[in-house]
Amino acid sequence: MIKIAVAKGDGIGPEIMDAVLKVFNAAKVPLEYDVVEMGKWVFDKGFNNGMTPQAQETIEKLGILFKGPMETPKGKGVKSVNVTARKTWNTYANKRTFLTLHGVDTVFSKAGIPIDVTIVRENIEDTYGGIEHMLTHDVALGRRFITRPGSQQVIRYAFEMAKKKGAKRITCGHKANIMKLTDGLFLEVFYEIAKEYPELKADDVIVDDLCMKLVTRPDLFDVVVLTNLQGDIVSDLCAGLVGGLGFAPSANIGDHISIFEAVHGTAPDIAGKNIANPTALLLSGIGMLQHLGLRESSILIENALLYTLESGVHTGDFGDKNTKALNTTEFINAIINNFGKAPKHNPKPELTDVPYSCTVLKLAQNPMLESPENNEEKIVGVDMFIESNEQPNAVANLCNECLGDLFKLTTISNRGTQVWPTGSVFTNLINQYRCRFESIDDKALSQQDIINLYTALSHKFKVCSTEILNMWDGKRAYSLAQGQ
Ligand code: NAI
Repeated sequence: MIKIAVAKGDGIGPEIMDAVLKVFNAAKVPLEYDVVEMGKWVFDKGFNNGMTPQAQETIEKLGILFKGPMETPKGKGVKSVNVTARKTWNTYANKRTFLTLHGVDTVFSKAGIPIDVTIVRENIEDTYGGIEHMLTHDVALGRRFITRPGSQQVIRYAFEMAKKKGAKRITCGHKANIMKLTDGLFLEVFYEIAKEYPELKADDVIVDDLCMKLVTRPDLFDVVVLTNLQGDIVSDLCAGLVGGLGFAPSANIGDHISIFEAVHGTAPDIAGKNIANPTALLLSGIGMLQHLGLRESSILIENALLYTLESGVHTGDFGDKNTKALNTTEFINAIINNFGKAPKHNPKPELTDVPYSCTVLKLAQNPMLESPENNEEKIVGVDMFIESNEQPNAVANLCNECLGDLFKLTTISNRGTQVWPTGSVFTNLINQYRCRFESIDDKALSQQDIINLYTALSHKFKVCSTEILNMWDGKRAYSLAQGQ
């Protein structure tokens, strides 16, 4: 028996979780469940991360969490328990499998175009850090973190998973043509790791083009790996291709802890009515059984589910409107009654269990992920973000009064577009500029030089934010302003 933590969740969560566990019990899945307290009512009890300390301890001890959807209370300033759980336990890869399900009609199933796409979305970084500030009353700034070790973790997982899946192609979706440093780093890591997997065709597609291609020819894609926000959007797009969120399972994979859940939310509009579709959570549970090596149980249940869908059995949210929709309990009972039957399409082969190999370590301290540093690091300037409603020339004149003999003012931009020394009078301005100061003759600067410039500028403007300009091994570690 393997023991896992189960959190039933809010809204339809308890109904669909009970339904899925009923299927597991009927299939005699060798699992034991430790039910933990997480979700909206835990926030209401005053636990600001949405889980009790006992829940956290149990999950960290067992290493596997099977969870229902959870509501984030609005207007209380608390963060989503779903995002907190994924980030706290470093479940760096979000894997979502989108497969044609016979019995679930879509544009593609009607056209006879099969879909079998797996999206691997980076799960920790990007704009999901939620590090945001108002720089002026008109300007909000959010930070986007893409790191080399974080990208390596998720991309390596994607390649390993693609190899196990027997995939032929792995694609990196990105926007590196615009975000040259952030998405550029993700793409660079993708091709570095690709060299270790010559058997897989590795390529990349710009994310907007990827969306268009997924909608027109989804059958051309196999495994797609993306950064967090782009992955979030593209995976919901893929859910639409196979019949909607009711059929979208999700696994959040980490080195020590993994979380299995449906993609959809708590569906408050239908909660408590016993009409929710449990398929997405059941598919997530099947993914969890595979992760645990429980292949006999996973195949028994998956074949019964596929057979049930093929026979036209459905809940109210999908299927033939001319045949009676079953409620959650009836739908689950139909699946249980179909144990042992093989679907006509995509039947799963019989496989025996493999021992579950992931051991949960008791970590003494937080792991530090670090890649080797560059040889030569040099500070060559600073971007000062200042508040001003003056015209660019006036801002430049005030900046020039603060320079001293170390810095030169090289560019001023507004919302990323250069407005000084050259620019266009048609560029609309917002009351916040980025002024770039670079060292004269590329001389190395110290942090104290930057602080001295900050102090001088603070007599003229409100300085809202600063970013140091670094050169690493002679390469610029910052982007140019548009038009610079
Ligand atoms: P939702 O996914 O809960 O609902 C969207 C629509 O889809 C609703 O009409 C709902 O009835 C329907 N629906 C969803 N799941 C269904 C199912 N299994 N069977 C039949 N119909 C289903 O999205 P919404 O309304 O934006 O979010 C509601 C709450 O869920 C929010 O508090 C949100 O924060 C939370 N949420 C939690 C997630 C998680 O725990 N991973 C993910 C997404 C949202």
